[in-house]
Amino acid sequence: MGFVVAVVFCIVVSESWSLQSLTFPKEFKFGVATAAYQVEGAWNISDKSESTWDRLLHTHPSLSDDGSNGDVACDSYHLWRRDIEMAVELGVDMYRISIAWTRLLPNGFANYISEDGKRFYNNLIDGLLEKGIEPLVTIYHWDLPQSLQDLGGWANPLVIDWYSDYARVVFTLFGDRVKTWITINEALVICDGGYGKTWVPYIDDMAIGGYLCNKHVLLAHAKAYRMYDEEFRPLYHGKVSISNVFFWYEPETPEDEEATKLTIQMWEGRYAHAVYSKAGGWPPEIEKFLAANSKREGYPTPRLPPFTQEEIDYVRGTYDFYSLNYYTTRLVRRVKPEEAGSWIFYGNKELGIAIVNDPSWPMASFDWFAIHPEGLRKVLHWINNTYGVSNVLITENGLPTYDASLYDFNRVSYIKSHLEQILLAIKDGINVIGYTAWALMDNFEWLSGYTVKFGLYSVDFTSPNRTRTPRESARFYSSVTRTRSLNTTRHGLNYY
Ligand code: GAL
Repeated sequence: MGFVVAVVFCIVVSESWSLQSLTFPKEFKFGVATAAYQVEGAWNISDKSESTWDRLLHTHPSLSDDGSNGDVACDSYHLWRRDIEMAVELGVDMYRISIAWTRLLPNGFANYISEDGKRFYNNLIDGLLEKGIEPLVTIYHWDLPQSLQDLGGWANPLVIDWYSDYARVVFTLFGDRVKTWITINEALVICDGGYGKTWVPYIDDMAIGGYLCNKHVLLAHAKAYRMYDEEFRPLYHGKVSISNVFFWYEPETPEDEEATKLTIQMWEGRYAHAVYSKAGGWPPEIEKFLAANSKREGYPTPRLPPFTQEEIDYVRGTYDFYSLNYYTTRLVRRVKPEEAGSWIFYGNKELGIAIVNDPSWPMASFDWFAIHPEGLRKVLHWINNTYGVSNVLITENGLPTYDASLYDFNRVSYIKSHLEQILLAIKDGINVIGYTAWALMDNFEWLSGYTVKFGLYSVDFTSPNRTRTPRESARFYSSVTRTRSLNTTRHGLNYY
């Protein structure tokens, strides 16, 4: 036993020593991220139309913790020059933004393109490029035109065409300058959240609508990817992927191991297997499990709609890299069906599991947010082992706090410990190609409103010009981007 402890200790010590000397590869890109509804504001300026978020929070303000919404947010619609300046101060290579569908195509359909929307995104993209910062653009980050929601949104198969028509406009207008694209952000939140009644469109129909959404979201992504591949890649040589949020899961006890594997497939595989695996389609264990549930409930066909072989071939392989959002790790406990929680993740109920926290891991502001940086390295290995995909772009990672202080040493330590895990994964042979920290600045954190802070920059939401001020984490991050290592100092001391 003593020997085992000594060996483990040596490994830990030798890893942490070697970390000091590790540097990020030359091609590794550092970045920061935001999303349109969370920062832009100007919700009804010019001809912009109403999105699902506008509708939900205007009609049900009490759904957000402080009764607020994204009407003004960081006012980046007007203050985008300052945002670019901040990205320059941080020394980043990339800035991940998203496009508001309702700002560019106010009808939701591609028959009419807003001049104002076009001008806004052209200015932002050109402004970044002038400073040598690459715009990384998410085409859809949750703000569906309300007019399309009224027609059934992501549960209607026509959304595949609505979305791909929109994507075509985006590729046509900005494809000459944007070289990295995310088609859709976190489909799990769109479907499981949206139809699990915890997110827009706030509908309680995960059992049917949520699974229709699963299929349509993957086909919409694939259609946009194939369109890019055929029509735009030969001209612009860019890269396209879909971003997935991946909580790492571990069994609470050895008895929970099988349930944990299934949970990972339910959570991640349901949105990744069709795209990244060699076989394509739904993860077989999930398809089987859900088909059995449907049968037991008396449905004549599985609630998770099967793919045809043609659809499997169409979706499979539609990626140029893996876009990964990682925040936390949780434990899985198998429970009786009536004890299963539902939360945003409907799978709990469907699988008969509860998601719990390891008491030894520190917690952040949210009760689901356990801090476990090692989970990131495990996720990177899982992706590599399961799909044979090694080039991963980490498109989100960051720490929520209720504390708005500029001295956010907990955020420094969160980012640093996750970057350490990335360095170790790179050393293991995984090709992590970049990291965009969430978030450039405090912003509208969805149903937490402005109560929760994620920013490297703080934002004064009471000032008309939404004053942005760098936090300690911004200083830390800029020293990382400049030294391309974690061997950073503050006032000459190895402070961090
Ligand atoms: C992600 C989401 C972001 C941001 C972040 C922090 O799931 O894509 O928009 O809100 O979580 O909670």
